[in-house]
Amino acid sequence: MAFLEIKNLVKNFGATEVLKGINFSMEKGEVLAIIGSSGSGKTTLLRCLNYLETASSGEIELDGEKIFDSDVQLSEREIREKRLHFGLVFQQFNLFPQYTAFENITLAPKLALKNGIKTSGVSSAEDVERIALELLEKVGLSDKKDFYPCQLSGGQQQRVAIARALAMSPDILCFDEPTSALDPELTGEVLNVIRSLKSNDSTMIVVTHEMEFAKNVADKVIFMANGIIEEIGNPHEVFENPKSETLKAFLSKALD
Ligand SMILES: Nc1ncnc2c1ncn2[C@@H]1O[C@H](COP(=O)(O)OP(=O)(O)O)[C@@H](O)[C@H]1O
Ligand SMILES: [Mg+2]
Repeated sequence: MAFLEIKNLVKNFGATEVLKGINFSMEKGEVLAIIGSSGSGKTTLLRCLNYLETASSGEIELDGEKIFDSDVQLSEREIREKRLHFGLVFQQFNLFPQYTAFENITLAPKLALKNGIKTSGVSSAEDVERIALELLEKVGLSDKKDFYPCQLSGGQQQRVAIARALAMSPDILCFDEPTSALDPELTGEVLNVIRSLKSNDSTMIVVTHEMEFAKNVADKVIFMANGIIEEIGNPHEVFENPKSETLKAFLSKALD
């Protein structure tokens, strides 16, 4: 059985069907890249996985457990717990401006602790703080611990956002175009952090328009078009042997 199974996920906004039955699976430790034109439904898919949107129908199974079923109504608390399976790093970082890097990372785990929600390896505020320091080191920002977001570059802010997502020990870390708001010279440092997480066996879904990155780092690539998965395969299949005309056209533009 696969680690993650998405079955027939549909999302409507009013009369508009934005996800038209998404099916895919992934194994633990895999990196999945999602590519596709703007408006194809990539962000909506990540938001459904993270419970920021409720899918209209379909199922999500993680490690043999059904964590979403459109036929089952969940309580607020259940949603908060199930949301912890996924972490999300946004395009615009979304750090809390009034908190330091360190506080941005410790805020959610401390809140979880207070509310009796279990996160892996944490049983005290000291644990939360120790892990936050380890994560700051992992993303290369130990020296920026007490800096506020406005005192950090975009690349540094995004690395804090990655540490913040990791602090909740998600089973799967999702990235929504993590470098698209960055100046070109800052994308490398963020992509390098994501690459280093792969070598630590993190399971990740990365929506990206960095085609070289997808080609080199992903184990599996999904090409989305108009709310469906138009093609799925390993990077060689998707990038070197695209089958559909839509993917061929997309690649010739993206690789230009
Ligand atoms: N909250 C919303 N209400 C209505 N339509 C939405 C909403 N969010 C996204 N959409 C529409 O869904 C489609 C897919 O959007 P999105 O998932 O953001 O695509 P992508 O991330 O691939 O650019 C777009 O047509 C967008 O306008
Ligand atoms: Mg998007």
